Amino acid sequence: MRPIVLTVNGVDLRVQAADDDMLLDVLRRDAGCTSVREGCGVGACGACTVLVSGRSVSSCLARAVAYDGADITTADGLPAGDDVVAAFVDGGAMQCGYCIPGMVLMTHELLAENSAPDDEAVASHLEGNKCRCGAYPEIRRAIDRAAVRRRG
Ligand code: FES
Ligand code: FES
Repeated sequence: MRPIVLTVNGVDLRVQAADDDMLLDVLRRDAGCTSVREGCGVGACGACTVLVSGRSVSSCLARAVAYDGADITTADGLPAGDDVVAAFVDGGAMQCGYCIPGMVLMTHELLAENSAPDDEAVASHLEGNKCRCGAYPEIRRAIDRAAVRRRG
């Protein structure tokens, strides 16, 4: 075990992490970020996605000790009135909702890079995010809605 510091949603968190502790588990266990979810545990579903300095990371594959000093955003750290969350809610883009935090964070990453993503860009960016409930059309429409609103 060794001490590390993670900045999680703007708050510094000092934890003891073993070499094989995954970021997913530290965020859930030590930071209480239950929006960070384990689906597959092997990097294939996107449910565990977090943003590190704005870039998406699969936290189930990330050793926590490698992120000492990192600036991490989880979906539960997004501000009230977050535009992407609002677009998902308005569009009913969820069924069970298990995958949605990862989808929302991937959408933030996408819109930061591309303010007007076309269908191909959306599909390509979110191809690693699997939704067992099959809500993809609503999710795609929500991302379009978020992009349009953000452009004003
Ligand atoms: S739980 Fe990490 S990608 Fe599926
Ligand atoms: S809404 Fe259920 S897994 Fe996507």
